[in-house]
Amino acid sequence: MMQKAKALDAADPLAHLRDAFFLPEGVIYFDGNSLGAMPKAALAEVDETMQQEWARDQITSWNKAGWFDLPTRYGDMLAPVIGAAPGEVVVCDSTSLNLFKALFAGLGLRPGRKVILAEASSFPTDLYMIEGVLAARPGLEMQLAENLLEAIDERVAVVLLNHVDYRSGALADVAAITARAHEMGAVVIWDLCHSAGVMPVGLNAHRVDLAVGCSYKYLNGGPGSPAYIYCAKRHLPEVQQPLSGWWGHEAPFAFAPGFSPDAGIRKFLSGTQPILSFRAMQAGLALIAAQDMATLRAKSQSLTALFIELVQARVPELELASPRAAQMRGSQVSFRHPEAYAIVQALISRGVIGDFRMPDLLRFGFSPLYLSHMDIVNAVQILHEIMADGLWKEPRFQARQAVT
Ligand SMILES: Cc1ncc(COP(=O)(O)O)c(C=O)c1O
Repeated sequence: MMQKAKALDAADPLAHLRDAFFLPEGVIYFDGNSLGAMPKAALAEVDETMQQEWARDQITSWNKAGWFDLPTRYGDMLAPVIGAAPGEVVVCDSTSLNLFKALFAGLGLRPGRKVILAEASSFPTDLYMIEGVLAARPGLEMQLAENLLEAIDERVAVVLLNHVDYRSGALADVAAITARAHEMGAVVIWDLCHSAGVMPVGLNAHRVDLAVGCSYKYLNGGPGSPAYIYCAKRHLPEVQQPLSGWWGHEAPFAFAPGFSPDAGIRKFLSGTQPILSFRAMQAGLALIAAQDMATLRAKSQSLTALFIELVQARVPELELASPRAAQMRGSQVSFRHPEAYAIVQALISRGVIGDFRMPDLLRFGFSPLYLSHMDIVNAVQILHEIMADGLWKEPRFQARQAVT
């Protein structure tokens, strides 16, 4: 197996990218689906922003350093990564806030329809934000379904879906679900948090209406880095979002009475953006924008396939909780075990960083930018040792921390 891994690494067209990241000695990082590793270039970007743009150039940097245009400039950098066109993506706020805006925007495109349809297995914030929309718009209802393709009917205004399931890593069929929603006259919003930057998404190719996502996972933007929202160009003239702040105004510095939205994607902005977080994300964004998504996808599938094969051979007490077929899963593999939490903590103590998700999942994310096949071999060896010697049974691995 070691020979196979070495051969795969020797043929890896992305192997050189590992050097672009800070990867501490003795750590194998499987949490790029939660917080991506730090690109080395981010340090210089933030340093320049602090030392030059803020310290010396002060307020002139809004123009001189282009701070005011970062949301659309970064949106245009991100657009090809998710299969969108320039002018269709804006970087701003958090995924949760952008979900709120997208849900309202979608409802506005289908006046008269009353249902927001989602999957019960969605990441909780998606459903929480639907609840917030319902509280603000009495008369609407949320419908949760197991099989969305069957559940979409003529009452549905908006379908909200996660492209990749955050627990199982299962990949949803963007083409089929978007087409079915359109057939029934509904608008579709895709949450791309777990897919952008590791596979082609094809928003325009599939005629997706709206999408949101974060930049701190596979886009390596940094902790709490700004999220993004996509709106298909065909909807931009009529679409409206409810957080009508001055940055979404057609002329913010006219300070005019009354809100009049920007004609383009800037209408999805609300207020002043966190420039330090923006500048910290630029390096990661530039890196991902320079990649071919099909190449990233191929490596990601190779890494996850090897991981599944090795864990099943060497740690049979873990039960696979992700799809076995590579084309059915994202860039993540989860395994089930009643003591998943303690096992993950023991792994972390040995330098293998994954995470735990309720109730019993060990979750491993695979960034094709900086993981190698030999990382997989070494990590599974450590996992095997932990299970064989029972390290995870030590009481110190039972204590639950705030972030799991
Ligand atoms: C699918 C999905 N949506 C949304 C979020 C988080 O939203 P926010 O960026 O607002 O914290 C996550 C976070 O892990 C997620 O996995």
